[in-house]
Amino acid sequence: MTDALVIGGSSRIGAAIGRTLAALGQHVTLWGRDPGRLDLAAEQIRAAGGRAGSRVVDVRDRAALGEAAEQVLAGSRLAAVVWAAGLFDWADADQAEPDTWDQLFDVNLVAAATATRLLLPALLAGAPSSLIYLGSGASRQAFAHNAAYVASKHGLAGLAGGVWLDVRDRGVKVSLIAPGLVAAGAGLRSPQGQSNPEQLLQPEDVAAAVGFVVTFPDRGCPTEIRLEPQRG
Ligand SMILES: NC(=O)c1ccc[n+]([C@@H]2O[C@H](COP(=O)([O-])OP(=O)(O)OC[C@H]3O[C@@H](n4cnc5c(N)ncnc54)[C@H](OP(=O)(O)O)[C@@H]3O)[C@@H](O)[C@H]2O)c1
Repeated sequence: MTDALVIGGSSRIGAAIGRTLAALGQHVTLWGRDPGRLDLAAEQIRAAGGRAGSRVVDVRDRAALGEAAEQVLAGSRLAAVVWAAGLFDWADADQAEPDTWDQLFDVNLVAAATATRLLLPALLAGAPSSLIYLGSGASRQAFAHNAAYVASKHGLAGLAGGVWLDVRDRGVKVSLIAPGLVAAGAGLRSPQGQSNPEQLLQPEDVAAAVGFVVTFPDRGCPTEIRLEPQRG
């Protein structure tokens, strides 16, 4: 059995990814801040016969992130890391709170880069392995009223592309999975999420894309996957 780590595993999307990775036979560890949501997600995996644990990690706390990464490095074979942590801000650029933007960039991009640096040695040691970032429709396209989110997800796409080039010859698949609106978290607060949540992607759809990357033959890598709700 190999290990998988889902950062942002307390979200509904992260929890669904955890269930998919556990069903593929991986021992899943979920990181996030909310102990109740983390416990619930891990318990759902165990109830289905999988193996899961969780750890409270605020990724903005670099000391805590470093300690958690050290534990991973000291542990058994790491086969997959999924970065699903993210913050959303719904505000026009001239109205947004500077502190909110600071937090958003820190979680969505800077912490993602720091975690990448800290965890890549374990993924390289565990190769063949997979590093997957949860992007967004905003990874390649701008939208009004959330400039910081758009910029952070564009940045995450650049991070994924650059990291891929650095590790492709050493057995680590690196992928950006970029979903449109999902019936979870911020997606449910969107106008479409309020009016027609059943038409959005489901967390399981994002998890299926993660499963596709993880199980893809090691001679290739799905470097970027766009997902959209079928009905607009
Ligand atoms: N919902 C959508 O329509 C949609 C579409 C495309 C992409 N995405 C992406 O999917 C991911 C999940 O988003 P969501 O919409 O489902 O929102 P959500 O339920 O609010 O999930 C956000 C996740 O990020 C974690 N997180 C935030 N700040 C953190 C921090 N400082 N330290 C550790 N973890 C932190 C949260 O953990 P805690 O709750 O434990 O703090 C939670 O697990 C995000 O990356 C988002 O950009 C969402």
